[in-house]
Amino acid sequence: KDTYTIAVVHGDGIGPEVARAAVAVLQAGVQAGTLRFVDYPAGADHFLKTGDSFPAASFEGCRTADAILHGAAGIPGVVHPDGTEAGLDFTLTLRFKLDLFANVRPIKLYKGVPSPLGRPGPIDYVIVRENSEGLYAARGAGALLREEVAVDTLVQTRKGVERIVRFAFELARTRNGSPKDGRRRVTCCDKANVLRTYAFFRAVFDEVAKEYPDIEAEHVLVDAMTVHLVNKPTHFDVIVTENMFGDIISDLGAATVGGMGMAPSEEVGDGIGFFQASHGSAPDIAGKGLANPYGTILASILMLRRLDQRHRDSRLKLGADRIEAAVCAGLEDPALRTRDIGGVAPTNQVVDALLKRL
Ligand code: IPM
Ligand code: MN
Repeated sequence: KDTYTIAVVHGDGIGPEVARAAVAVLQAGVQAGTLRFVDYPAGADHFLKTGDSFPAASFEGCRTADAILHGAAGIPGVVHPDGTEAGLDFTLTLRFKLDLFANVRPIKLYKGVPSPLGRPGPIDYVIVRENSEGLYAARGAGALLREEVAVDTLVQTRKGVERIVRFAFELARTRNGSPKDGRRRVTCCDKANVLRTYAFFRAVFDEVAKEYPDIEAEHVLVDAMTVHLVNKPTHFDVIVTENMFGDIISDLGAATVGGMGMAPSEEVGDGIGFFQASHGSAPDIAGKGLANPYGTILASILMLRRLDQRHRDSRLKLGADRIEAAVCAGLEDPALRTRDIGGVAPTNQVVDALLKRL
């Protein structure tokens, strides 16, 4: 491929600020002509203006692009008649319509970034969140009976569990193992001691694990996992888990490495990938130039690496390496940290410095 088309959706709140930052960094870090950016509208603000949170033309643009880059979405109180948030339509529609079954959330503590754990040592693991079924399968299909009883159903299929577990083991093969002992390890995070769906998840995990004798397989119950992610985060390498559990523990993980502003997210299926920071639209600081752009920039690095994995294009790998080096240098410089990670730098100051370095 000569040129890769990136569909960019700025979204709401701080979304445009962090998306612009990421695009500027990509333009500076990747050889000119490699990437082509096309903007599409979606989100709560667009819903307010037009009554449509995710226009068909935007969906088509996203579906046919090589990758999708998103700022953030959501405005509090901007909801559909059934009470669900209009800002969430974009992410959830892409997820389910494009079958982005793997949500990859690296949790890495960068040098210079303060952790509420004090000096936890090197934290560097990846949460692989099942992204197509689990409790989220109930979205739009739950039942409310006479305003008295509400039901959502957690669904787990063999096909769905097999593919996410295999994805996690394949990912582990590409990594250097847990930072603590260097051992390649996939941890199945479930609640198999109580619920059938999770026992099934674990049983399928055990079956697939046999195909990977080179990688250690272990189980941790989700409640215990919240303790381990605080007390021994350096133990973990790859964690695979059900959709809802992944949503929750990935925020916990993010908190240990500097917060939501430091947590990128990739959602991928058999084809296209969708990239954004894990954080929301932060309406309280929107438009003030204070947003932490690192999360979206880290997501852009994930995007380049995924595109390179699929297309084997050294321009992408080179760009990813250069941007990552700039990010590491930026985070080590106290003057280039935003407020949420112990600094005072406004967004522009961080972006300008990264651009200069690139
Ligand atoms: C996330 C978010 C989403 C989720 C929202 C925006 C639908 O919290 O990506 O983690 O709940 O999955
Ligand atoms: Mn979440």
